[in-house]
Amino acid sequence: MRALIAGNWKMNTLRRDAEALALALVDLCRNEGDPGADLLVCPPAIMLQAVGAITQGTPVALGAQDCHTAESGAHTGDISAAMLADSGCSHVIVGHSERRANHGENNAMVKNKAAAAHGKGLTSIICVGETLDQRDGGETLAVITDQIAGSLPQQVTAANSVIAYEPVWAIGTGRTPTIQQIAEVHDHIRSLLTKHTADSAAIRLLYGGSVNPGNAEEILAIENVNGGLVGGASLKAEDFWAICGSSAQ
Ligand code: 13P
Repeated sequence: MRALIAGNWKMNTLRRDAEALALALVDLCRNEGDPGADLLVCPPAIMLQAVGAITQGTPVALGAQDCHTAESGAHTGDISAAMLADSGCSHVIVGHSERRANHGENNAMVKNKAAAAHGKGLTSIICVGETLDQRDGGETLAVITDQIAGSLPQQVTAANSVIAYEPVWAIGTGRTPTIQQIAEVHDHIRSLLTKHTADSAAIRLLYGGSVNPGNAEEILAIENVNGGLVGGASLKAEDFWAICGSSAQ
């Protein structure tokens, strides 16, 4: 299956940086040709218009980092899936561990956000992952089972959903799980998905957590790893491009 490499810019970039990064990626696509993977960038919400103006009509797709569950209304500071779709987004990340930790998002909220995204034609990137305590306590597969069971809405399909496995302890730390540890969790998620959809074999499973140009090839070669969700390394066009070119599929 063709890989998806998604850049989660998190709360980084001012407008000139965001525009320069988007332009650099669009130029790389034009000059270097198809890297062999689908590209997605997820800038901060306030940068979506500026970045979308640059990426529109190019192979670089546009995504957001979060959405609200409601379509509109009294939700100060929040952004709806309809607004994201209206701004040119095709994807939205939901349930990132930083949102779960910093904004108290639980599985039920993540599920409702994904459903809201699907309702507006967006593909949700639903994030799961264990903390270091949970990993050390031998709870990883149980935690993932619980998050998948609670965070996936009805009617999950390969067209409307991507699952991202991001061990919390690997995010921004430079520490990555072993290849066996990644493979174990991805195989587990793949088997859990059969309970949710007939489409389970076609759903892309992304790995995220300290992916960089040096480790991408090995990670992306793992069976049941169908792409990456990249944080820090997605802020440098050359690094992100190198990761995009590392998928063997
Ligand atoms: P890093 O690639 O910076 O570890 O971040 C991963 C991540 O959280 C992507 O969503």
